[in-house]
Amino acid sequence: MKPISLGTLKILSLTYLTLVAAIPDPQNITIEDDYHERDVITRDVCIIGGGSAGTYSAIRLLELGQTVIVIEKESLMGGHTNTFTIRSSGLKIDYGVVVFHNNSVVQDYFGHFKIPLAYADFGTPNTTANVDFRTGQIVAGFVSENSTSALEGWVVQLQKYPFLAAGFNLPDPVPEDLLLSFNDFVQKYNLDGMVQLISQLDQGYADLLNQPTLYAMKSLGLDLVRTVQNSYITTARHDNYELYDAATTELSAAKSLLLSSYVISVDRNYDGKGSAKIVVQTPTGKKLIKARKIVVAIPPRTSSFKGWDLDNQEKDIFGTYRNEVYYTCLLTNTGIPDSFAVNNIGANTSFNLPALPGIYDIRPTAEPGLIDVKYGSPFEQDDTTVKKNIIAALGRLNITGVTTTPEKAMFAAFNAHVPFFEHVTSDQIKEGFYKRATGLQGHRGVWYTGAAWETHDSSQIWNFTEILLPEIVKA
Ligand SMILES: Cc1cc2nc3c(=O)[nH]c(=O)nc-3n(C[C@H](O)[C@H](O)[C@H](O)COP(=O)(O)OP(=O)(O)OC[C@H]3O[C@@H](n4cnc5c(N)ncnc54)[C@H](O)[C@@H]3O)c2cc1C
Ligand SMILES: *[C@@H]1O[C@H](CO)[C@@H](O)[C@H](O)[C@H]1NC(C)=O
Ligand SMILES: *[C@@H]1O[C@H](CO)[C@@H](O)[C@H](O)[C@H]1NC(C)=O
Ligand SMILES: *[C@@H]1O[C@H](CO)[C@@H](O)[C@H](O)[C@H]1NC(C)=O
Ligand SMILES: *[C@@H]1O[C@H](CO)[C@@H](O)[C@H](O)[C@H]1NC(C)=O
Ligand SMILES: *[C@@H]1O[C@H](CO)[C@@H](O)[C@H](O)[C@H]1NC(C)=O
Ligand SMILES: *[C@@H]1O[C@H](CO)[C@@H](O)[C@H](O)[C@H]1NC(C)=O
Ligand SMILES: *[C@@H]1O[C@H](CO)[C@@H](O)[C@H](O)[C@H]1NC(C)=O
Repeated sequence: MKPISLGTLKILSLTYLTLVAAIPDPQNITIEDDYHERDVITRDVCIIGGGSAGTYSAIRLLELGQTVIVIEKESLMGGHTNTFTIRSSGLKIDYGVVVFHNNSVVQDYFGHFKIPLAYADFGTPNTTANVDFRTGQIVAGFVSENSTSALEGWVVQLQKYPFLAAGFNLPDPVPEDLLLSFNDFVQKYNLDGMVQLISQLDQGYADLLNQPTLYAMKSLGLDLVRTVQNSYITTARHDNYELYDAATTELSAAKSLLLSSYVISVDRNYDGKGSAKIVVQTPTGKKLIKARKIVVAIPPRTSSFKGWDLDNQEKDIFGTYRNEVYYTCLLTNTGIPDSFAVNNIGANTSFNLPALPGIYDIRPTAEPGLIDVKYGSPFEQDDTTVKKNIIAALGRLNITGVTTTPEKAMFAAFNAHVPFFEHVTSDQIKEGFYKRATGLQGHRGVWYTGAAWETHDSSQIWNFTEILLPEIVKA
């Protein structure tokens, strides 16, 4: 073993920090740098983030005659969309975003790329076990409530707040019921039957019961209720990545996409007329983007805006959000039989909600031997801890006839969706947080879209984005 002096340790830990941070802290950039002509990109709109919201914005703005450039930090577009390909057969497995609402925004978007949609039918597992993952023991006697009547009561409540259909345009004062914790709201209106349903629909919201009711209503709004009562849709080939493949092709052809790239600095008024100069680190060096308008389609957190010329109004909003975390992964060699599902049911928790951090559930996939595991936590955990906890929980499973093999289990895919569920407190909502946040739309030439501005639902996010587009085009 090589002894390491303290000095070396310091350097090592510094290197480690820069490796861990996906995007390094901005250096002092000389904005007047003399960029070669080929490194200066002039567009109407610069879109930050090529996930669900950013990709939709880009495709629609091109359709509306704008020139755009998308900056995506990963080497692939798609954000929370994860599609796994079985190499031997070519079988596709969506283990990130899976389903959409059957509405005209969704039909038009997939129609643009001629990607066929179909009703989402994922079959029913042969066996479903209800287990408390903390102990691995079956929760005997647990029966899921019949949510039909609770859902009817929920709709009555939702209809009181038509403004929730898109965005967070809340009235002033904000209705008291929306500020109640979801737990108190459920008691008040006898909606117990909603809790398990909404927690299963809204995986990733680890702590929904204690959050303001506003977030439950945003996540299961009228259009999603209609979808749940009828049917979800998905891509006919069970390959949601087709959408992002097609968008990557279209945007690349229009010289409108920078992958594996991130913003180093933003100066939003270099010409005194509100035009932005955006310096971007790309795999082929630094580029200078000149754009009159910016669409931010990444989580609106302070850490997302390193190197930006933020004002106090912006800092106030971005610094207020808190988040949870959500993980999705595929595992092989687990010993879990095919067509076997396991739900995490709290043996002694309110409404039998799963105790988190922990696994939400284990689902079979279309590939024998491959299982889909979802994991959530109300606070941040690192990837190593999450993997360790998943394997340990597998080992604890005590289901008659099932012998798990945690020591042999392997992660075929593992994706951290962090941060997930940006939220603020009831008091902050009451004091006008969302009025100030929505007031940022168009402020200093920037518009905002994505889950934090709507909810974690692509169909809803696209509909929300539609409202912004005319304003962006006009500006
Ligand atoms: C496991 C899982 C399953 C889900 N299932 C569904 C489902 O079935 N149906 C559904 O509608 N929704 C589902 N969702 C919800 C999903 O969150 C939304 O539908 C949608 O993906 C959110 O869109 P977004 O654009 O806000 O974020 P994202 O899709 O995450 O896009 C953000 C993009 O910005 C990029 N980025 C981040 N920071 C930077 C930066 N600094 N610079 C440049 N780029 C950056 C990211 O790499 C990413 O590509 C699921 C989510 C998860 C995690
Ligand atoms: C950046 O520049 C400012 C002012 O010019 C200076 O105070 C600061 O120390 C510099 N930071 C770095 C990382 O060089
Ligand atoms: C979606 O809804 C439309 C009617 O609005 C219908 O024609 C279509 O068959 C539905 N389902 C799918 C999978 O597209
Ligand atoms: C649930 O309740 C509704 C109405 O109360 C009833 O029509 C339906 O059959 C029930 N479903 C189940 C699975 O029991
Ligand atoms: C279990 O599910 C598999 C895959 O869906 C199916 O082929 C099989 O027939 C089922 N077995 C039983 C015993 O139901
Ligand atoms: C609930 O069960 C868990 C797991 O067995 C245990 O750790 C916890 O103390 C129990 N809590 C209560 C309130 O009984
Ligand atoms: C597994 O569950 C059975 C009951 O189904 C119980 O008798 C047994 O003690 C449990 N084993 C462990 C290791 O917890
Ligand atoms: C889409 O947004 C509009 C507001 O612009 C809203 O009236 C409508 O209900 C939303 N549609 C869906 C399907 O959510």
